Amino acid sequence: MTEYTPMKNLPAAPGYKKGDLFVLFGELFGRGYANGIVDEARRAGMTVVGATVGRRDNGGELRPLTPQELAEAEANLGGKIINVPLEAGFDLEPADDGISPVERLKGIKPDDWETVRFGEEILQQSRRRGIERLRTNMEQFIAELTPLIPAEGSLLFAHTMAGGIPRARFFMPLLNRIFKGTGDKFLPSEPFWNSDLGRLCQLNFNEVTGNTFGGLLESTAAIRAGVEARGGAVRYVAYGYHGCGVLLGGEYVWQSYTPYVQGEAKMLLEDIAVEATRNGISAAVYNCPEIQTNSSALFLGVELSLYPFLAALEREGGGPVAEQARRDCAALLKEGGSLELMLARADDYLASPLMAGFMDFAAWPQHNVKEQMAFMLERSQELMAMSADQKRVVCAELSRLVFQGVGRLMFDDSWAPQGPVLWLNHDIIARRLLS
Ligand SMILES: NC(=O)c1ccc[n+]([C@@H]2O[C@H](COP(=O)([O-])OP(=O)(O)OC[C@H]3O[C@@H](n4cnc5c(N)ncnc54)[C@H](O)[C@@H]3O)[C@@H](O)[C@H]2O)c1
Repeated sequence: MTEYTPMKNLPAAPGYKKGDLFVLFGELFGRGYANGIVDEARRAGMTVVGATVGRRDNGGELRPLTPQELAEAEANLGGKIINVPLEAGFDLEPADDGISPVERLKGIKPDDWETVRFGEEILQQSRRRGIERLRTNMEQFIAELTPLIPAEGSLLFAHTMAGGIPRARFFMPLLNRIFKGTGDKFLPSEPFWNSDLGRLCQLNFNEVTGNTFGGLLESTAAIRAGVEARGGAVRYVAYGYHGCGVLLGGEYVWQSYTPYVQGEAKMLLEDIAVEATRNGISAAVYNCPEIQTNSSALFLGVELSLYPFLAALEREGGGPVAEQARRDCAALLKEGGSLELMLARADDYLASPLMAGFMDFAAWPQHNVKEQMAFMLERSQELMAMSADQKRVVCAELSRLVFQGVGRLMFDDSWAPQGPVLWLNHDIIARRLLS
């Protein structure tokens, strides 16, 4: 069990310099967390190299990006992308009988989910194939990365991979019931998680969200040895999630989105960083706040704890950056709306007795219950509706500020990490942005 270790001190400026290599291990999406650290690497003059998960056309063979897709992705990243598909997971990998987990679900109605049985051995066969596929592709990736390593200076790898929801149509109605269902539509996460379907998700999440980090550390051992032998250093950072401290009743209080079914995979990621650090590798996981990205879009309500970030900016000293953030957010509100009301409603949600039982760090990740989900979804909608244009909502603006602050903190801290697992709570992010 990881100890709760929030970052307390702003890290010093790092020693990265022009020509050092920054490798983004995962794809970059418009509003994704990684934008923050990529900006920092560019600003420091580092050479930026990226990766791709590849593509599958209609669930078919995994392939690299087409020349057009590659050109677009490279323009977005502002650097070369090594075009080897690094998709992790095994939901589309056949077991020894030639059938993949996703294919096994064909013809089954989502309502009959409780009757689905895979059997552990079948899942493990597919899993082993998925691991083998990624290992082979990683070898290719490393072979193409090696010539790009500068003759002097250091390397920074940023791991951003997370996901692994099996890509069967079957899953969407079920997941919608778990994450967005109210009344009769609500499906509790616990029985689902304890079913064979939950087991498939768990194993797949572990591969995508956790073991890709271990694989990266392992595959780059020779690169590390080479760089260290000539006096350079190789460092690794990864994005974690394990709840977040936000301002509530004048204090920074740990809370979490529930049900965070990826929680165990994220704890595996933490364990990998702890073990690597013990072995003398510079590897740190930074547990980040809830923000709105492509990946978090399914989890309606995850953004509720983001609103108090505005209050954190005031609490940590205010000033021009905080004032600008308030102005930018206020400009997005419907006529007659106010940030004060928005913050009061978010506060009322977080402080409600219904949420108290979910603020238990030791019990994380917890399953959901009907009343909590109904309350969260209703409050999420109420606060979203306060923005005038649903394509430009206040929490998107706050998400951007948070990923910028997180990017700076991770980039700076990576030079000499304050620990293998650190929580970047609203206070330290606000302080970073204000200083
Ligand atoms: N959004 C949040 O609220 C939040 C909070 C804390 C931590 N994080 C973490 O930040 C990181 C980036 O996520 P994001 O929210 O910015 O979303 P994102 O969608 O921008 O990024 C998700 C990343 O996962 C990769 N990925 C997805 N499926 C994959 C697969 N099968 N194999 C390999 N890679 C795969 C994508 O290429 C991409 O790089 C993740 O580790 C995420 O868990 C997000």
